[in-house]
Amino acid sequence: MLKFSQRINAITSKDTVLLRVDFNLSKDRQGQFVLSHRFYSMIPVIKQIVAKGCSVIVVSHLGRPKAGGVDKAYSFSSLVPELSKALDLPVSFLPGWPHQKTFLAPGTVAMAENTRFLLGETKNDPNLVGKMLNGVSTVVMEAFACSHRKHASTVGIASQVSRLVLGPCHQQEIYAIDRFRHFSGQRMAVVAGKKITTKLALLEQMVAKMNVLCLGGGIANTLLHSQGYQLGGSFVEYSQLRAAQVLYDLAKQHEVKLILPQDVVVCENLQDNHTMRITDIDHIEPQEFIIDVGPKTVAAFVAELAFVQSVYWNGPLGIYEHESGMGASTAWAQALSSSKAYTLLGGGDTLSVLENLGYKGFTHVSMGGGAFLHYLAHGTSPVLSALQAYEEDACEEQRL
Ligand code: 3PG
Repeated sequence: MLKFSQRINAITSKDTVLLRVDFNLSKDRQGQFVLSHRFYSMIPVIKQIVAKGCSVIVVSHLGRPKAGGVDKAYSFSSLVPELSKALDLPVSFLPGWPHQKTFLAPGTVAMAENTRFLLGETKNDPNLVGKMLNGVSTVVMEAFACSHRKHASTVGIASQVSRLVLGPCHQQEIYAIDRFRHFSGQRMAVVAGKKITTKLALLEQMVAKMNVLCLGGGIANTLLHSQGYQLGGSFVEYSQLRAAQVLYDLAKQHEVKLILPQDVVVCENLQDNHTMRITDIDHIEPQEFIIDVGPKTVAAFVAELAFVQSVYWNGPLGIYEHESGMGASTAWAQALSSSKAYTLLGGGDTLSVLENLGYKGFTHVSMGGGAFLHYLAHGTSPVLSALQAYEEDACEEQRL
């Protein structure tokens, strides 16, 4: 398990702090930011740093705009008043950061424009890193959700700054995931979502460590099709049928209880509720496609909760963007939230599902998507490796 000693307490009033957060937030239909847990969890952290009397530059990326210009749809300008309101403090906006000189009075907060507008950000350009760190004495790394990215505002600044601190939410993330990784007792994983490709590395690792593995979404479709099931017009990742077969064989080899959908919700047209029905997996008509796993399948997942000590859930069980594809995820989330097991949830789409249902009743809900999967599979991240190197150097210096 990774352990880090640098804490926010070590910051002094003389410091100018660059707080790297992950405000990669979604927007609603009106184009307003959805102020999720990613946003609100940072408010006490910013307050804690400001209370020490130092100035804070809040830095984040947003979306994947083209670098080298400003695209209003990806600008943080409209988030600044929200941040100010949540903090109950004035917050200035830094559209030209880090290329324009910035002076911040002690105890003040500023928010920089989207780092992904900057040329060199995603390439971890050392010149850009130098500019980002100009006048900054301490970096507080809170952006767990992008700790797997080797960018200038993640690994770049973490490797170059004179003092690097792991933020409390980031610490909480790695603590919760590490606990799950080393949990003894019966373990269950529910992995769903559209594509097997994005989760194959994780699934291959999971299969060796879990007692029960339940699959849903497009991932389950691909596995079922690799076993000869005809799924009508359902989404299947045809290029991954071989990988799905390997996964199936691995589950057998490790004697994992693999639970695949036995019934599903199908339809002919998502806009036409009359074509919707629940059917067993081997009775899908050619013109139908799967939009969710069925109630028998959810009941089979829920029945396992009585026998396991830890549960991991990643990925919606159905086409969650559509209301009719949310039924199984909702029922499963409700059952899981009242389970006594150690429950760890994560992944970008899982968060979207929980945004509608609420976060209560789980041991830990990770704010990470890809970063969560990366940490779960590898037990570290590029940002944490930089932090480890930093702490080893600091120890070495103390010894000399
Ligand atoms: C996320 O939302 O998962 C992180 O912010 C990473 O975003 P990215 O995949 O665009 O790097």
